[in-house]
Amino acid sequence: MSVLKIGIVGAGGHGRVILDLILESRGMEPAGFFDQRTGGEGPLGWPILGNETSLVENWPGLRLDGVVVAIGENRTRRRIYEKLSAKGIPLVSVIHRRAQVSRFAQIGAGTVICAGAVVGPGAVIGDNCIINTGASVDHDCRVKNHAHLCPGSVLAGTVTVGEEAMLGTGTVVIPGITIGNKTITGAGSVIIRDLPDNLLVAGVPARLIRHLEEEEDDQGKKTNNQPGSEKKTDNRTGLGEKTNNWSG
Ligand SMILES: CC(C)(COP(=O)(O)OP(=O)(O)OC[C@H]1O[C@@H](n2cnc3c(N)ncnc32)[C@H](O)[C@@H]1OP(=O)(O)O)[C@@H](O)C(=O)NCCC(=O)NCCS
Repeated sequence: MSVLKIGIVGAGGHGRVILDLILESRGMEPAGFFDQRTGGEGPLGWPILGNETSLVENWPGLRLDGVVVAIGENRTRRRIYEKLSAKGIPLVSVIHRRAQVSRFAQIGAGTVICAGAVVGPGAVIGDNCIINTGASVDHDCRVKNHAHLCPGSVLAGTVTVGEEAMLGTGTVVIPGITIGNKTITGAGSVIIRDLPDNLLVAGVPARLIRHLEEEEDDQGKKTNNQPGSEKKTDNRTGLGEKTNNWSG
């Protein structure tokens, strides 16, 4: 069986996870990283082969079989995935040999299934998703494109997770719940009600922390009140406090 040579886009912490994942998967080997930091030795002794631009410009000459975008943050991973995909660069899915993926599940392009993850029968996982270490996706769940299930998160059966949603470490979701696009759950949250798009929720059971709204700044550049950004007010309702009233 021929072994596929895979480039890893992103040489940060998640890049190291993906390197390890490729080494522990079947039929693939890592070629090296593509990162803003070009040249020289990258993480864990693998080379930095170029950056995003040189990857696109030099693709045929690189003699790689595919790439994986190794960036945990959903929006950036989506941007790079869509750019590479539009250029015809193959985005491969990578499954750790110690993940348990049902033969009756579907896994999209560019999606990674990390060590100890479990994906049940009838589950459909879209493109460019991360099913992180020890996460579990039970029967008939739907995880849409560019979503990230952080380590140890648990979806009971028939849960739907929206595009670019992020379920924080150890989130638990009861059966049949729908989580909206770009919604984020805090570490350790328990989700017992449907969640609309663009919310940040946390706690047991999960309660609203704030709405996540995208805005344009003075230069027309997109900003938002994502976790880690400075702007954290709830600009839709002015609620600010934790409340279960997230219907708007
Ligand atoms: C939920 C989260 C994204 C919020 O980050 P943030 O926007 O910086 O929020 P803050 O730290 O300012 O907290 C805002 C409020 O939410 C509460 N909160 C934050 N995280 C919480 C959590 N996991 N559970 C319960 N409450 C939480 C804070 O106590 C705070 O409450 P207060 O206003 O009463 O003081 C973050 O705390 C979190 O849980 N991240 C998980 C990330 C993760 O799992 N990454 C893995 C990557 S592989």
